Amino acid sequence: MMNLYLNGEFLPLDQGRISVEDRGFQFGDGVYEVVRVYRGKPFRLEKHLARLEQSVKGVEILMPEPVAKVSEVCRTLVKGLEEGQIYLQVTRGSAPRVHAFPQDLRPTFVAYVRPVTPHAPDRVYALKTVVDDRWGRCNLKTICLLPNILGKQRAIEAKCDEGLFVRDGIVTEGTSSNAFFVRDGALLTHPSDNRILNGVTREAVLEIARQLGVRVRFQGVTIVDATASQEAFVTGTLTEIMPAVSIDGKPVGSGKVGPVTLKLKNAFRELTAKECG
Ligand code: PDD
Repeated sequence: MMNLYLNGEFLPLDQGRISVEDRGFQFGDGVYEVVRVYRGKPFRLEKHLARLEQSVKGVEILMPEPVAKVSEVCRTLVKGLEEGQIYLQVTRGSAPRVHAFPQDLRPTFVAYVRPVTPHAPDRVYALKTVVDDRWGRCNLKTICLLPNILGKQRAIEAKCDEGLFVRDGIVTEGTSSNAFFVRDGALLTHPSDNRILNGVTREAVLEIARQLGVRVRFQGVTIVDATASQEAFVTGTLTEIMPAVSIDGKPVGSGKVGPVTLKLKNAFRELTAKECG
């Protein structure tokens, strides 16, 4: 099965080969995207590709192919896939190891697909707070994910499902998701600045909230207020909308899925069905 596209060629995934001197491998010098595929169709592919363009630009890497070509590659890769994901990665390319980069380097471009097992409809998350010690440009989707994977690992070791990054007492986002809280019927979420990745799912949730008349306030929520909120959930391409029922072992609200979360979750399912029907 040709489920991999590597620098211009379609291949089976296990036949992809990348240089030891690829700067992604040696420096984490690259960016990525993850796109969810529902019923054989990529969800909001254009938004992901627009963000990929912003990320490459933000770290001064060249786009390996025009967006239209990347889109066509994705559509070819998803053939025969029902529920799945597309992973896209662009690194600066391969060159003898020095920190400064040659200007004319050819980027390494990888895109591949994998099946996804959908979440059980009643799945909920327990969150564990972790220190957000990431760099100042979290709005770029770079492959330098050490704080994220260590944060997730701490959460899993604490028998939780997701790490909740906290910087100076303020919740920023999850280790691989955005965070939302509900207070007095309004949604609270961190503003989309350089402290968070502005998720494609987050944007979809904000759209749905507007349509449903749910008020949204863009503000940093303290961890004290987060824990005292009535409802909480995290969002992401693979996470979708996931109710968060506890933070550091303390129940959020009733400790069950709240009405606002449920309403948004149902509307999100309808949106994916409509757009990828
Ligand atoms: N991560 N914040 C971080 C730090 C993330 O890694 C992600 C997604 C999100 C949500 O973004 P989106 O809704 O566009 O997926 C927010 C992906 C899925 C990952 O690393 O696997």
